[in-house]
Amino acid sequence: MNEIQSTPYRVAAQPYYRPLANEVDLYEAAYAVRMPVMLKGPTGCGKSRFVEYMAWKLQRPLITVACNEDMTAADLVGRFLIDINGTVWRDGPLTLAARIGAICYLDEVVEARQDTVVVIHSLTDHRRTLPLEKKGEVVEAHPDFQVVISYNPGYQSLTKDLKPSTRQRFGAMVFDFPAAETEVEIVAHEAGVEAQTAAKLVEVAQRSRNLRGHGLDEGISTRLLVYAGRLIAMGIPASDACRMALVRPITDDPDMQDTLDAAIDTFFGV
Ligand SMILES: Nc1ncnc2c1ncn2[C@@H]1O[C@H](COP(=O)(O)OP(=O)(O)OP(=O)(O)O)[C@@H](O)[C@H]1O
Ligand SMILES: [Mg+2]
Repeated sequence: MNEIQSTPYRVAAQPYYRPLANEVDLYEAAYAVRMPVMLKGPTGCGKSRFVEYMAWKLQRPLITVACNEDMTAADLVGRFLIDINGTVWRDGPLTLAARIGAICYLDEVVEARQDTVVVIHSLTDHRRTLPLEKKGEVVEAHPDFQVVISYNPGYQSLTKDLKPSTRQRFGAMVFDFPAAETEVEIVAHEAGVEAQTAAKLVEVAQRSRNLRGHGLDEGISTRLLVYAGRLIAMGIPASDACRMALVRPITDDPDMQDTLDAAIDTFFGV
């Protein structure tokens, strides 16, 4: 085992990932040519799980950064810190990933300010370098390094978007909730419930997804279905599990809650 493979960033065990189409092949090809990749899709549809799976499959370390609007370029790149010996440079996650040849996954990238996001530009074009201006060093990215970004276009507003010059450095893969039979398989596997129970959970989710834009910002995600299934597997009655894990998290509107509760009672019986 080499030094990189033993870093804490290595995905040690195979993550469970159920392919939805040809996304594994597409990603492998993108990685082979070191094309930066953007993953778009609703919350809880499997984007992060997919990246973990691909990092495992490609045997690359994975460094994930959850982006937010307070994040600065220094949070990504690194900064000088003062310790008892004086000033020491500490690499940020992007620099570390570039040095060790990791997949650097910038989650919810539109949350970051545009002046922060531009620091990835020189790493995501032919240069594959990262200038550390404060330190006076130019890091040449390791040949295995790759940048992956993800975001949810549904939350996008005019003030939160990626510049064209950022977008056009990436190939894009669009994710959505799986087809019903596939989602049943995923929920049954992840929650440890019978396919019959998983199928009812998926039915409820599909009703909620039809209400997107009609009182709901987002439908019930696969992630929430897994939570509900796990509660049911613990012996919690389905109606309570679904109210807690599927309905109350996604809306505060009492009418919408009633509508979704009724769907639960239809599928699980009262
Ligand atoms: N194709 C899939 N194979 C296996 N598990 C899946 C798949 N899709 C979704 N899941 C399940 O759904 C859960 C949520 O997925 P994940 O965390 O990857 O969502 P996400 O798209 O990254 O959401 P967010 O945008 O909120 O970060 C996973 O923990 C997993 O249990
Ligand atoms: Mg995620």
